[in-house]
Amino acid sequence: MTDLGSAHVLVLGATGGLGGPIARELAAVGAKVTLSGRDPGRLEALAAELGTSVVTTVTADLTRPDGPASVVRAAADAAPLTGVVNAAGVVAFGSVEQLDDDTLDEVLLLDLVAPIRLARAVLEVLPEGGFLVQVSAVVAEKPMPGMAAYSAAKAGLTAFDAALATELRRRRIRVLDVRPPHTETGLATRPVAGEAPKLPQGLAPDAVADRLVRALTDDERDLPSSAFTGARPTPS
Ligand SMILES: NC(=O)c1ccc[n+]([C@@H]2O[C@H](COP(=O)([O-])OP(=O)(O)OC[C@H]3O[C@@H](n4cnc5c(N)ncnc54)[C@H](OP(=O)(O)O)[C@@H]3O)[C@@H](O)[C@H]2O)c1
Repeated sequence: MTDLGSAHVLVLGATGGLGGPIARELAAVGAKVTLSGRDPGRLEALAAELGTSVVTTVTADLTRPDGPASVVRAAADAAPLTGVVNAAGVVAFGSVEQLDDDTLDEVLLLDLVAPIRLARAVLEVLPEGGFLVQVSAVVAEKPMPGMAAYSAAKAGLTAFDAALATELRRRRIRVLDVRPPHTETGLATRPVAGEAPKLPQGLAPDAVADRLVRALTDDERDLPSSAFTGARPTPS
């Protein structure tokens, strides 16, 4: 069992539909959190809600080359870090014929390149017993037509996490790759390109956050989409 009661956890994408509930859940189990996102207004609103659980807030664009490292530096300078949860991401819809360069760049930069840069930065500051959680997606296991670039980015991230997890075993740093099914965060309503197909009712964000934090406290080493089968759907 991992006791998060004395942990300091950096949450990236804390302004998001999953990152917010993850930060709340971490605070509920006693962790201190540093919150990072792009939108300063929503970041400060969440910080006000979580009060003394918050160490600091960091606004950054993670697609910039120094974005991930600058967030890690700011969090670690504020207080020694125990772990990092990366819940920042974007999605794009449409066929490969419709996929333009700007969309391809944005999806690959935020969903694949930034998490790799983040991991490099995190390795410099995490102690033995620390953890890095990367929110990938079910499409890493089951790529979807109409979401080819997003599927490729997430599959790439999951492969990266598997290799990194093995590299870090000796240092006793855990890498947890999380692959949730569709969740009702609103992500699908704000794609960087295209329009979402009709999707089935997704999971409740709180249930996904709860499952993720439970995996951390229970020392789980992988969180595939099948691990969310018990998570309750959002009431329709
Ligand atoms: N929702 C789902 O169905 C689902 C399923 C499986 C996996 N996921 C994954 O879960 C993660 C979180 O998604 P979500 O559903 O919570 O989406 P969301 O509500 O749209 O949140 C996305 C988060 O990413 C941040 N972000 C976007 N572009 C950024 C950039 N350039 N630099 C820094 N931060 C940026 C947003 O910050 P601002 O809002 O401050 O701009 C926000 O905090 C993503 O990786 C997504 O792929 C989601």
